[in-house]
Amino acid sequence: MKRHGLLIVDDEKEILRSLTLTFADEYEVFTASSGTEALEILKQQSVALVIADQRMPEMTGAELLEKVFQINANIIRMILTGYTDTASLIQAINKGHIYQYITKPWERQELRVIVKRALESYELALENQRLLAELQAANERLKDENIFLRNEVCRELQCADIIGQSPVMQKVFGLLNRVLNNSITVLLTGETGTGKTLLACYIHHHGPRREKLFIEQNCGTLPETLLESELFGHKRGAFTGAIQDRKGLFEIADGGTLFLDEVSEMSPALQVKVLQVLQQGRFRRVGENEFRQADVRIIAATNKDLRAEIQKDRFRSDLYYRINVFPIHIPPLRDRISDIPLLAQHCLNKYRRKLNSQVTGFSQEALQGLCNYDYPGNVRELENLIERALILSTGPQIEADEWLPALPVNTGGVTRMEQLERAEIERLLERYQGNLALVAKELGVSRTTLWRRLKDYRVQPDKDSDVSK
Ligand SMILES: Nc1ncnc2c1ncn2[C@@H]1O[C@H](COP(=O)(O)OP(=O)(O)O)[C@@H](O)[C@H]1O
Ligand SMILES: [Mg+2]
Repeated sequence: MKRHGLLIVDDEKEILRSLTLTFADEYEVFTASSGTEALEILKQQSVALVIADQRMPEMTGAELLEKVFQINANIIRMILTGYTDTASLIQAINKGHIYQYITKPWERQELRVIVKRALESYELALENQRLLAELQAANERLKDENIFLRNEVCRELQCADIIGQSPVMQKVFGLLNRVLNNSITVLLTGETGTGKTLLACYIHHHGPRREKLFIEQNCGTLPETLLESELFGHKRGAFTGAIQDRKGLFEIADGGTLFLDEVSEMSPALQVKVLQVLQQGRFRRVGENEFRQADVRIIAATNKDLRAEIQKDRFRSDLYYRINVFPIHIPPLRDRISDIPLLAQHCLNKYRRKLNSQVTGFSQEALQGLCNYDYPGNVRELENLIERALILSTGPQIEADEWLPALPVNTGGVTRMEQLERAEIERLLERYQGNLALVAKELGVSRTTLWRRLKDYRVQPDKDSDVSK
């Protein structure tokens, strides 16, 4: 086994000689008679432990050990002191992070034991660092695999089924089609659970970058510094714990798409850096000076009103203009209740397989119950409701009482669906000044159906309007 290097620093030749005698049989001993000389030796030799005398002419032992600590914090540092010089000892301990101080005169045997123990802890520290690095490397590999696996899953689902026949969702799909065959930056807005992530995934997997990675990063789940290193990577030693170079997501997603979820949660300092990638296609790893290039499509999402965030100085307007190139707003589920039956069936099919359930559909009342709820958690909440009902249900279809614990009971004879429909008809009647043909066309129903609804809801069209118009 390779012998450890020991560096002894003292301006007294006698002491150097004596310590060399003590250690030469076990270690490779280097000697220096000044701090400067010691630093020279450190540059050339592999040294595991330094013993320095405190009182030396140009550089004290404490000063030297402080430098040693900066050069390589792993090297064990010991100080020799012939005086009960408390002040300099405290300085040595604090600044030089010394392992031990040895008072003159010392017991030879004792010193050998101290040095032996110190070197054992030196080896342990190195071993720990090696293991930590291995662990981090393994983690990195897992993370990469995770990214790939998630892409596979996403690809498999093809994010295929985005349900939405309501006029508002049809509008969303219209916008969606505009961004599929290009790499334009897209901003998805909408409450939580409305399908932002689903849409982002869909956009990527139906666009020109589909063969490359789609990577998702939530900007609200990591503290600023971690998020920065996650997005841009870091250089080894950039901060404590950065024990090796690491690629950031911008590099990993090169050629593909980076989905920045909850983009409003990014700190202003980080916003500047993201803006730089968007504008100039370049960024820097944390702790590195040179720029790197990245060709990444950005899809951002937020459930906040970014303009209000700008007012509060939480979001930079320049970044806002840069990501708001093509905004797509996904309406909350309560504004598209006509989609609920299809969505419910879709979820049911999805979870049926997962739960191995025999349930195939909903009772009329159950569906009605679903349509009467207003879903603060949107589609995600609908999914959860259905998953729960599937677990609870015993018959061939989901019955209303399986919802009841979660859904508010419908009061009065008029359902929410009816209320909304009535409000919509009234709005359109006003807009088209009572022209029932136009209202029926906008609603996508026949004039007879509209007429029946008007009677049901006791809505009075303007006196001069005529169904046959
Ligand atoms: N239009 C839709 N059609 C089918 N499933 C949807 C639709 N919108 C949302 N979902 C599903 O609802 C859940 C929540 O959607 P998600 O994209 O995670 O919402 P957000 O990112 O806006 O919080 C997901 O399981 C998603 O697949
Ligand atoms: Mg999401």
